[in-house]
Amino acid sequence: MKAVILAAGKATRLRPVTLTMPKALVPVANKTLIGYAFDVLKAAGFNEIGIVVNELDSPIPQTLGDGSALGIHLQYIVQTEQKGLAHAISLCHDFVGDEPFCVFLGDNIFQDKMTPLFTNFLSSGAESAIALGEVPDPSRFGIAELNPDGSIAKVVEKPKEPKSNLAISGVYLFRSSIFDAISRITPSWRNELEITDAIQQLVTDGHRVDTYKIKGWWVDAGKPDTIVLANQLVLEELPYTPANEDKTQVIGNSTVTHRVILGKNSQVIDSIIRGPVIIGENVIIRNSYVGPYTALGDNVTIENSEIEASIVMKNCTIKNIQGRIDSSLLADNAQLESASHMPATHRFVLAENSYVQL
Ligand code: DAU
Repeated sequence: MKAVILAAGKATRLRPVTLTMPKALVPVANKTLIGYAFDVLKAAGFNEIGIVVNELDSPIPQTLGDGSALGIHLQYIVQTEQKGLAHAISLCHDFVGDEPFCVFLGDNIFQDKMTPLFTNFLSSGAESAIALGEVPDPSRFGIAELNPDGSIAKVVEKPKEPKSNLAISGVYLFRSSIFDAISRITPSWRNELEITDAIQQLVTDGHRVDTYKIKGWWVDAGKPDTIVLANQLVLEELPYTPANEDKTQVIGNSTVTHRVILGKNSQVIDSIIRGPVIIGENVIIRNSYVGPYTALGDNVTIENSEIEASIVMKNCTIKNIQGRIDSSLLADNAQLESASHMPATHRFVLAENSYVQL
């Protein structure tokens, strides 16, 4: 079986971060979001994976290449206009051929490896199987109503009056019948060809669609606060490592607690790092506090500041900030400094859709 990851959206909800970086490459605990999709797919035995992207000459193909560095074979399928998930899937027909295949939404991240979903499908008589998760806000998702045997009775995309809290969570298994179902649906109110409507078409045609209820946490990491949440959930799983007392890295009056990953050539000087925390390479932390659930990318400098539960991507600088920075997302090369001279004004250079809370 082959798998396809859909990663061609416009990611407007994650701007300004996604003005220069596709959502799939946003780091969560210093690993790209799409890297977590690869983990689930590799655990299920997939090594031929297609990625639907906006264009070939773009950051995802440039960064991931043919996948050999990751031990997988990657191919790219171009969707020039984002006309919906079903449209994106229809473009994958040549790649998957007439064999059963998996679709994975590139902005979802799961604790569960979902092994039973994958192992049961081929021998089942079902035309499709989808992963479901319980959500508190069903109107934001595709929502499923189930038959007594657990198969799908009905699915509706983002219903105004949801009949259940069981959301379609972004991992789907299909047979080639889905392409015919997609050819028979029409665009939704948001002018997209919805895969939820194509699944409903399968049900209406009398086919069985199986379900798998995911275990543990799941995050649709499409917004800054959900990316920060995903970062916290992943860091929560960092295994125990003892406190770092290496004098070449932990210098002066410093404490680095257990569950802190400190990258090569990074130095903690007169500072406290309280895990779980992940720190990349060539990072300098001086006279500062880095609290739990923080991920710092390569070449970050933090001086005279406090930060926790945040993502700071590579090459950022944070200096002399009063008060603790919390639940924040700083994209590559961001600089956050308070003026060291009078007048102590605030000065900002912000990209479109930036958000600052003082
Ligand atoms: O997160 C789960 C939800 O994902 C499901 O409950 C919904 O049923 C499903 O429709 C989907 O809803 P979203 O509105 O969250 O989908 P979104 O537009 O965020 O797209 C999901 C991924 O698919 C994202 O990585 C971008 C990619 N995509 C999206 C569109 C519209 C494409 O590759 N092509 C597209 O045309």
